[in-house]
Amino acid sequence: MRVLVTGGAGQLGRCMAPRFPSHEVLAPDHAGLDVGDRDAVERVVNEFVPDVVVNTAAMTDVDGCERDPDAAYRSNALALRHLGVAAGRVGAHVVHVSTDFVFSGDSERPYREWDATAPASVYAHSKLAGEEELAASSSSWAVVRTSWVFGRPGGDFVSWVLDTARQGKLERVVDDERGSPTLASDLATVLARLAVERRRGLYHVTNQGSCTRLELAREILSIAGLSEVSPEPMRSADLGRPAQRPLYSVLDNAALRLGGVDLLRSWQDALAAYLAESGLLDGSGS
Ligand SMILES: NC(=O)c1ccc[n+]([C@@H]2O[C@H](COP(=O)([O-])OP(=O)(O)OC[C@H]3O[C@@H](n4cnc5c(N)ncnc54)[C@H](OP(=O)(O)O)[C@@H]3O)[C@@H](O)[C@H]2O)c1
Repeated sequence: MRVLVTGGAGQLGRCMAPRFPSHEVLAPDHAGLDVGDRDAVERVVNEFVPDVVVNTAAMTDVDGCERDPDAAYRSNALALRHLGVAAGRVGAHVVHVSTDFVFSGDSERPYREWDATAPASVYAHSKLAGEEELAASSSSWAVVRTSWVFGRPGGDFVSWVLDTARQGKLERVVDDERGSPTLASDLATVLARLAVERRRGLYHVTNQGSCTRLELAREILSIAGLSEVSPEPMRSADLGRPAQRPLYSVLDNAALRLGGVDLLRSWQDALAAYLAESGLLDGSGS
């Protein structure tokens, strides 16, 4: 099988190639393939003729999207028109990654794939538009919504907590946003399965269980032996960020669960494994 992974240098994108050990993988970074550039998408797809496209490329700077909506819609929405059309032409199956931010955050139970969306930021609107663009295309597709992705040593929330704590500066962490932390390499395993099996439709895929940002920080500090660091709770709104975040975005992995597919391990187990493997515990991974 020939697999095209977009956003190949991103946190999730760099986890994809090892998940296709017996397949031919092309994973260009942003400079190698700009998914917002129709001609570039057409050229790469026509030359490589993938069986599967895994789209991990996105403008993920949520506040940056608020400041530059055109850039957000170009990379997160229009890009899916380009990918959907090009993939449809060569018969490639598209596995596209979306976000928990498509929901309002008002729910009192985990969101199912069939719940109504209500995006509240430019990032969220642009990602939902990307889902809709892909669904309207002629390609065969799966959309995977995930949340709170970690797995890039030196460049994720886990590293931020450890670095800030070691500098004695971890004073406050948001305690009114609840979600499911998800290890990029765990998510990549499911994306690869959906790709190989050409599964279609909408899926919620996260590590299991949920926590607040503060609870996540405390778990990180505990595993790292830094339990004496004790950040205070704060409200998301007090950060004064341009983009609104959903306060509750736990995703029920219902399509996998009801379809009899094994769910990912708990976020605590994923976090412990990541910390053990990443070099972050002894500081060598930052
Ligand atoms: N991180 C999270 O917490 C989270 C949560 C829910 C959903 N997601 C979704 O998960 C997916 C992967 O996110 P991630 O955590 O891996 O983010 P990431 O590390 O920011 O990776 C995204 C990659 O896409 C690249 N990119 C941006 N615009 C592009 C374009 N027009 N063409 C090609 N590449 C482009 C970026 O390159 P540059 O950096 O060079 O621009 C970056 O390497 C995204 O769809 C995101 O929306 C992420």
